Amino acid sequence: MAEGYVLVTGGDRGIGRAIVLRFARAGYTVFFTYHRNREAAEETLRLVREAGGEASYTRMDVSDPASVEEARAWVESRAPHLNVLVNNAGILHLGALEETSLEDWEMVFRVNVTGVFLVTKTFLPLLRRAPWASIVNVASIAGQTGNVVASAAYSASKAAVIGLTRRLAVELAPAVRVNAVAPSFVETDMVKALIDTPEKRRRAAELHPLRDIARPEDVAEAVYFLATPQSRFITGQVLGVNGGRLTA
Ligand SMILES: NC(=O)c1ccc[n+]([C@@H]2O[C@H](COP(=O)([O-])OP(=O)(O)OC[C@H]3O[C@@H](n4cnc5c(N)ncnc54)[C@H](OP(=O)(O)O)[C@@H]3O)[C@@H](O)[C@H]2O)c1
Repeated sequence: MAEGYVLVTGGDRGIGRAIVLRFARAGYTVFFTYHRNREAAEETLRLVREAGGEASYTRMDVSDPASVEEARAWVESRAPHLNVLVNNAGILHLGALEETSLEDWEMVFRVNVTGVFLVTKTFLPLLRRAPWASIVNVASIAGQTGNVVASAAYSASKAAVIGLTRRLAVELAPAVRVNAVAPSFVETDMVKALIDTPEKRRRAAELHPLRDIARPEDVAEAVYFLATPQSRFITGQVLGVNGGRLTA
């Protein structure tokens, strides 16, 4: 079994839950955070225990410096260091530019971009203390292409996450590797409204040469590879989990 300490933001449901389970099954000690959905966090913990893993959770609003600091103190009282930070928490705002208010724009940036900045900066001393360490940011294909889904603020925020990933890979080397994953459609609450009928689902699947949409576990596998020492010479990369969509 692998040994090490992992923090996953937004680990209570969706992609985050699959990431928590992936690391817990491999033997890592996993810390994860939720924002509003404590019941989902409890369910994730139950699933981890059922799989014979070890995890615990706390609340953290990634956009609130005081909340991030509280979570840091909580992790620090339970672990000597962090080997892996997965910046997974994020929100989607659906809307073209003309349907996006300044408040919508700022909210998306506060969670998706400032959140990654705050959490990374706050937990960096714990990562630096580890014998090996890496960060994986959950970006999106929306930050790489003019997305088919109308989401101006979201696309811009995920492009910012990719830029931050590339810069931090240089800045934090050689102590900490920094990579990102860029999923396309993943079957979670976030895109539920876009795939909630067989017809919508079929149309979403047809965007991808592999003729399907991703499962949370598909993304978790990519995150696990980029986070752990099997990818020791890979940093600053963005791994698409997109069924071939970007190359189509
Ligand atoms: N689903 C997709 O198709 C897709 C595609 C590409 C990229 N992504 C990215 O993948 C990541 C996970 O998305 P998902 O699909 O799993 O979405 P989801 O099911 O909606 O889950 C979002 C997660 O983020 C947490 N969160 C939201 N606001 C937060 C805040 N202010 N502070 C801390 N945590 C917060 C939520 O916590 P609560 O449960 O407590 O609210 C939840 O754990 C996101 O970064 C998303 O942009 C998703």
